[in-house]
Amino acid sequence: MFQTKITKLFGIKYPIIQGGLQGLGKESLVIAVSNEGALGMLTAGSYKNKEEFKTAIRNVRKQTPNPFGVNITIGIRRPMDEFVEAVIDEEVPIVFTSGQNPQPYMEKLKRAGIIVTHVVPSVRFAKKAETIGCDAVVVVGYECAGHPGLDDVTSLTLVQKAVQELNIPVIAAGGFSTGKSLLAALALGAEGIQMGTRFLLSKESPLHEQVKKQMVSLNETDTLIIKRSIQKPMRVMKTEISKRIAEMEKNNCSLEEIFPYISGESYEKLIREGDIGAGVISLGQTIGLINNIKSVKEIITSIIEEAELQLKYLYHL
Ligand SMILES: Cc1cc2nc3c(=O)[nH]c(=O)nc-3n(C[C@H](O)[C@H](O)[C@H](O)COP(=O)(O)O)c2cc1C
Repeated sequence: MFQTKITKLFGIKYPIIQGGLQGLGKESLVIAVSNEGALGMLTAGSYKNKEEFKTAIRNVRKQTPNPFGVNITIGIRRPMDEFVEAVIDEEVPIVFTSGQNPQPYMEKLKRAGIIVTHVVPSVRFAKKAETIGCDAVVVVGYECAGHPGLDDVTSLTLVQKAVQELNIPVIAAGGFSTGKSLLAALALGAEGIQMGTRFLLSKESPLHEQVKKQMVSLNETDTLIIKRSIQKPMRVMKTEISKRIAEMEKNNCSLEEIFPYISGESYEKLIREGDIGAGVISLGQTIGLINNIKSVKEIITSIIEEAELQLKYLYHL
């Protein structure tokens, strides 16, 4: 059940994708997700350099016979050329790009026979991705963890509009963490879902346990958007630090003033040492529906079971 264009495109059992997770989309999580029949996504930005990343690719390959992809986020932290080269050298057949336009890398990636999916927050960028030769897109709605873009359009509208306007498969992201929401995405015309927040709260996610514990007690109102002042809105966990940043932005602070809280080092301190006061971490509104830290196997099984059950219920209405 739930075989779609993207299960065929990627050769996976379920139409579920683990989105890129900066610093956390590493081997343990990727292997678990791919082993359960969804698509794990090794996040290039989590690795220091090409060699370290290549080793990670080989480790994943050793521990799952199933397909996995690589997320390359362009233009957020550092040049990604060496990671694109690593993917080509290691013959990883699936790449998800996000952030800026992947056009500079398209020719190389396509020449290597790689399936390229671009992650976008708007229909305009989705159309652009189709034009430059992407094989699929992920559209990310306003409720997502991470970067929802500047338009503030929620998944319910964004997904349907993208499906209407595009010919390539559309994957829905932003607010998906349950079987009912998987079914809803398929009903809207998407070919599958990409999840970030749900997989962040899995046993295999390398996020510090203390942070996971704090997150599971949160509601759908416990996120907020920061970095609007620098045109890079980012939905993060509501904490004393993120509230302070939002306040500083209201008072027209400079990038220098908020930088210590949004730097790579402060993020590392938060995710590795559990120091919630060190920085900020992306989190989606769907956290309000998550109240446990389950294994990836339990997460995927329960999503599929709930979707099947809800489908039966709808059928009998
Ligand atoms: C902690 C965290 C880090 C993330 N890092 C990245 C990243 O490096 N690249 C990327 O494309 N998306 C990143 N995302 C976004 C996810 O891949 C995904 O698109 C998003 O979480 C979907 O919304 P959801 O959280 O409602 O499922 C991140 C999300 C979280 C929660």
